[in-house]
Amino acid sequence: MKIVMTGATGGIGLEAAQRLVGGPAARLIVGARRPDRLPGSLNGKVKALPLDLASLASVRTFAAAVAEGDPIDALILNAGIQNVTDAKSADGFELSFAVNHLAHYLLVRLLLPRMARGGRIILTASGTHDPAEKTGIPPPRHIDAARLAWPRQDPDLDRRRIVRGQRAYSTSKLANVMTARELAHRTADTHPDLTIIAFDPGFTPGTGLARDYPGPSGLIFRFLLPLLVKRTDRVSTPENSGRLLAELATDPGHAGLRGRYMAVRREEVVDAPPSAAAHDAELAEKLWDNSAGLVGL
Ligand SMILES: NC(=O)c1ccc[n+]([C@@H]2O[C@H](COP(=O)([O-])OP(=O)(O)OC[C@H]3O[C@@H](n4cnc5c(N)ncnc54)[C@H](OP(=O)(O)O)[C@@H]3O)[C@@H](O)[C@H]2O)c1
Repeated sequence: MKIVMTGATGGIGLEAAQRLVGGPAARLIVGARRPDRLPGSLNGKVKALPLDLASLASVRTFAAAVAEGDPIDALILNAGIQNVTDAKSADGFELSFAVNHLAHYLLVRLLLPRMARGGRIILTASGTHDPAEKTGIPPPRHIDAARLAWPRQDPDLDRRRIVRGQRAYSTSKLANVMTARELAHRTADTHPDLTIIAFDPGFTPGTGLARDYPGPSGLIFRFLLPLLVKRTDRVSTPENSGRLLAELATDPGHAGLRGRYMAVRREEVVDAPPSAAAHDAELAEKLWDNSAGLVGL
């Protein structure tokens, strides 16, 4: 079984990768910014190739390398950032939108022809995409790809940098959910055998997601919140969410899901309704087409 994965070097993805390499006959190829400095638990057990999702050129090089050889049985697009520093990608796009959405969208487009029959594509999304979830992260206001790529063109841009960054994050996660749904729609005739899932791992403190936060906030997310956070049905741990991600990629019970949103509830995944905006087929079609323009397809 050939599995290709992003975001395997830390947090939820590392937990998933550790399970996958321990499973039967899985060959795991991970895209990593520093393939020569993998976490020890993956050393010698995975093939690591250079991938910086903040560069579309790097995404294309990685896609060409993993396209070689056997078809891909599972494509796990898990990497993500919550950038709150107004940083830009190598291509000049807002960084969270570029890494979380555009880079993964391009990987989907480039690797779709290389998927095995009955293969799976999983995009890690987030409950923050849904205003009804009231996660504390400002929810998306729109899903206009050009305004998200170049936020300075957005007349409604948030004034506070942290709020801007958080909203860019939740919006990129809406883009992940919409991409999964639109991919299922567009491949209904050509790849009806593919399983396509958007995964919400739940609120999972203890990972590196808040690393860009100024002051001690990032450290609080990483080290204090895992000890203090109140258990609700939307809270998870990196170990548990990693287990669920690995299961979505391999368990026969999850085969055949098409564009579904699988969200953590009480430490398991359920087939949950995404936000109202995520259901908007016209907007999803537009996002798909405009994203193609931005990544040069
Ligand atoms: N933690 C939560 O509460 C939560 C909730 C909902 C959804 N999620 C989603 O879960 C996924 C995993 O996040 P996490 O919480 O486990 O965070 P994490 O510990 O920070 O892991 C993020 C992963 O993405 C990789 N990555 C970041 N930028 C990259 C780039 N430019 N190129 C290549 N790889 C890059 C990181 O690689 P490096 O090792 O090189 O940094 C790391 O492997 C994300 O998609 C996130 O949005 C998390």
